[in-house]
Amino acid sequence: MLVIFGASGDLTRRKLVPAIWHLQQQGRLPEQFALVGVARSEMSTDEFRQRMREALDEFVGASGEEVDRFLARINYVSGDPGDAEFYGRLGQQLQQLDDAFGTAGNRCFYCSVPPQVYLTIIEQIGIAGLNQEGQGKPGWVRIIVEKPFGHDLDTARALNQSIHAVFAEHQIFRIDHYLGKETVQNILVFRLANSMFEPLWNRRYVDHVQITAAETVGVEHRAGYYDSSGALRDMIQNHLLQVMCVVAMEPPSAFDAESVRLEKLKVLKAVRPISVGQVDRFAVRGQYAAGDYDGTAVQGYRQEEDVPANSRTETFAAIEFTLDNWRWQGVPFYVRTGKRMPHRASAITMQFKQAPHLIFAGGNDLRPSTLTIRIQPDEGIALSFSGKIPGPDVNLGTVEMDFNYQDAFGGRSPEAYETLLLDCLLGDGTLFADSGWIEKSWELLMPVLEAWNATSATRVPTYRAGTWGPREADDLFDRDWRAWACP
Ligand code: BG6
Repeated sequence: MLVIFGASGDLTRRKLVPAIWHLQQQGRLPEQFALVGVARSEMSTDEFRQRMREALDEFVGASGEEVDRFLARINYVSGDPGDAEFYGRLGQQLQQLDDAFGTAGNRCFYCSVPPQVYLTIIEQIGIAGLNQEGQGKPGWVRIIVEKPFGHDLDTARALNQSIHAVFAEHQIFRIDHYLGKETVQNILVFRLANSMFEPLWNRRYVDHVQITAAETVGVEHRAGYYDSSGALRDMIQNHLLQVMCVVAMEPPSAFDAESVRLEKLKVLKAVRPISVGQVDRFAVRGQYAAGDYDGTAVQGYRQEEDVPANSRTETFAAIEFTLDNWRWQGVPFYVRTGKRMPHRASAITMQFKQAPHLIFAGGNDLRPSTLTIRIQPDEGIALSFSGKIPGPDVNLGTVEMDFNYQDAFGGRSPEAYETLLLDCLLGDGTLFADSGWIEKSWELLMPVLEAWNATSATRVPTYRAGTWGPREADDLFDRDWRAWACP
């Protein structure tokens, strides 16, 4: 049984219910399944079902009898997450639903609520005993926690401690939707199901790695959350560091949660700490100013709805990470993200070293070979390298071999939430973050946050909306042949 707290929110209608719908359509949901929405709003199950019907129509284009059958598995319970009595009532209702749907005491609680409410819900679940599994109780109990997981190292630690007081680590599923993306999962397949790439995947052949997540959208209507977060917390602490770990990790001995998590943590442990004094050398932030997209003007961050006029929150962040281990010594990892960039593109670009002795250099602009993994959109992998342009002279040009998911496999790729919800229902934590990883990721970023928050650090560089970030981001590269790729 999936029990969603915060069910009247946007995530439930846009992502979670459509994801469960697709799982049902693919026959992947267990026969014995029910979804229970929980929120403060007074609403009957019928009213909630009607809302979900509209959501399916809007986001999936589904209607008709199949939707009716699907909606029959959805229920709603209203209540205040801070009210202890409510959890007693909820427990009874869940038991009744167990009888009706045969869900045998299995519970997957999903906290789709603002971070300040996670703790209340988790504590109350514990007090009401809804967390218990084993000891003669039927079924399993798991909890999914959305990001952000903490606001800094201290709050992340405190959150881990409070959750651990109620749930054991194997019951906790900290969601990072990037890990559910097909293209991110495919990185390990690409590396480890083919024997030809892994031998190149190291300091001997790789010059540097870039990981970019560029968005065209601005802050939208999320200033309440975003202005106290910023790009570093919003994208780098979780999504992009996870991607970096998948690219940089050693091959795990098995594709299971324990082995994969262990290797990812080892990557973070190899990251050379950046001291507060070094932040200006290794990290750059920026905030978008007014600009335009194809002649359509957009306003700057500080002019956006609910953003303070003197906000210093970064909407762009870039960091150079150094990994101190045998595989990656001397290979910088450049990680960058920004809102209001020229186009939407998340990609990993691995630039290979120049050939050691260039016998065709005369008159030729020799570009180093690159491997680009396009996470989204236009999902695929491209290898670019030099080739001889046909003709009597030895003129070289850059050519590209391109694998495109859609062309190769066709069909519809599952959304990240489908994969992650199913994994949680199956109890597979491979694509979720564990407490050690979360705390280490915050620990690495704390000096950057400290330097950027210092009252002396008043100037936040700006960049025109529709450009690739502040000029300062180019200064991260201290080698002539390195520059940001435009994915
Ligand atoms: C979310 C961030 O986690 O990821 C958003 O809070 C961001 O600010 C989003 O827009 C990006 O996700 P995706 O899947 O569109 O790259």
